[in-house]
Amino acid sequence: ITLHLVTADQRTRELRCAPGQSLMKAAVDAGVDQIAADCGGTLTCATCHVYVDEAWAARLPAPVADETDMLDFAAAPVKPNSRLSCQIVLTPDLDGLVVHLPATQY
Ligand code: FES
Repeated sequence: ITLHLVTADQRTRELRCAPGQSLMKAAVDAGVDQIAADCGGTLTCATCHVYVDEAWAARLPAPVADETDMLDFAAAPVKPNSRLSCQIVLTPDLDGLVVHLPATQY
């Protein structure tokens, strides 16, 4: 599937990746350094914070309470479309997903 990652300074990077993994893993493996993911996906760091494009936000499963709680620790401002990318599983229907990267994770 193809993802479109938009940096805080509006540069878009396209990522081709296999479904079944998390968005965090796909981004880290591709060297996207705007996603730090210090905890490796165990929902204890909030350095994998992203903003899911408004057009896509409602198409993702709602965050579990632990994700919402951990988002409070995100460095960049939290918005209604904020998610932790380690909790977003890339399914085939997310082909074309647009995600905005925050200016900082710290
Ligand atoms: Fe740590 Fe997502 S990688 S919360």
